[in-house]
Amino acid sequence: MPVDFQTNEEVVRAARRALDQAGWDYLVGGAESETTMRRNRAAFDKWAFLPRVLVDVSGVDPETEFLGEKIRIPVMLAPVAGMQRIHPEAAGAVAEAAAEFGTLQTVSSLTDPGMEETAEASDGVKFFQMYIQGDWAWIKEMVARIKKAGYKAFVLTVDNARYSRRERPIIGRTALANLGPSMPGPGASVTWDLMDRIKDLVDMPIMVKGIATAADAAIAVDHGVDVVWVSNHGGRQLDHGRGTLDMLPGIVEAIGGKARIVLDGGVVRGSDVVKALALGANVVAIGKLQGWGLAAAGSEGVVRTLEILEDEILSAMALLGVNSIGELSRDYLERADPVAAPHEMSAWVNLPGERLL
Ligand SMILES: Cc1cc2nc3c(=O)[nH]c(=O)nc-3n(C[C@H](O)[C@H](O)[C@H](O)COP(=O)(O)O)c2cc1C
Repeated sequence: MPVDFQTNEEVVRAARRALDQAGWDYLVGGAESETTMRRNRAAFDKWAFLPRVLVDVSGVDPETEFLGEKIRIPVMLAPVAGMQRIHPEAAGAVAEAAAEFGTLQTVSSLTDPGMEETAEASDGVKFFQMYIQGDWAWIKEMVARIKKAGYKAFVLTVDNARYSRRERPIIGRTALANLGPSMPGPGASVTWDLMDRIKDLVDMPIMVKGIATAADAAIAVDHGVDVVWVSNHGGRQLDHGRGTLDMLPGIVEAIGGKARIVLDGGVVRGSDVVKALALGANVVAIGKLQGWGLAAAGSEGVVRTLEILEDEILSAMALLGVNSIGELSRDYLERADPVAAPHEMSAWVNLPGERLL
């Protein structure tokens, strides 16, 4: 079925129609007051562009490289658990979409249809994100499977020491039975020591996802981490944290070029992508937007979402006067006052102040 979405707002609206209340609450809900989630959006709204004109941008191209892989736009797909709640083909549909569009997929260890089946769903390059849910023997067995299935990088998520209180599903009585409010998370006892052991074991690039301070970024670099993934889990874990784009400049400084940088949290527009790259991220990742595309129209929905994002990135780059991602820098940005109250829908034209409940 061909999809005719022209804006990602249309994708979000279609996703809302496709999902029942439980699915919507799971995909969209942040922790407690959802302040962290809102700050993710607010952080993007606090920057304005400084465009340069009369530059020949006829060759504008958002392609970039990440961990040796060419990607069509500097946007990859963040790990999303429980995708079967969003679409029956779950991570398999996303694997097809990522390969068709030309970007990288990070597969969560907590989603259907499982690591081998998802790996086989397309020949696209994939990373694997693993929650630690067992002892060393369990970890070794999982890592062997990850390697055999052909995943190219290992992502350790570190902001889940406890499963947070996400009140939309709590109030709706639809929270996952095995992940109830504020239970000890699978990461409760994971430390840098275990990260070191896993890093030695995996023998592939390691990405630590959920770094939120310059202090931890510096430790990550000391431990030889290949990629620092700046994230607050999309505002789904610790409430009253900072927006990720606000974290970025300090983290970039602390890393000093010694690791690659991914940023996620609130990215829904091409202009968001361009701002994050101008401030030093190498690539951004999308969680909710990926889920909305998947809910709206499965694999084709995710492809269409990425195509729209690509068009927005091209527009922002050309109108800024840059031809390539490498030309983006802090010189193209200035601090500005936000014009709208931030929330998970505030980037869409027709939904100001409105929540799709
Ligand atoms: C429905 C859902 C499930 C998620 N599951 C995982 C997961 O299994 N592992 C993980 O590291 N992050 C998970 N995340 C967080 C994302 O990887 C990412 O950090 C976040 O969604 C980025 O913010 P955004 O949703 O505003 O794009 C999940 C996010 C959503 C929306």
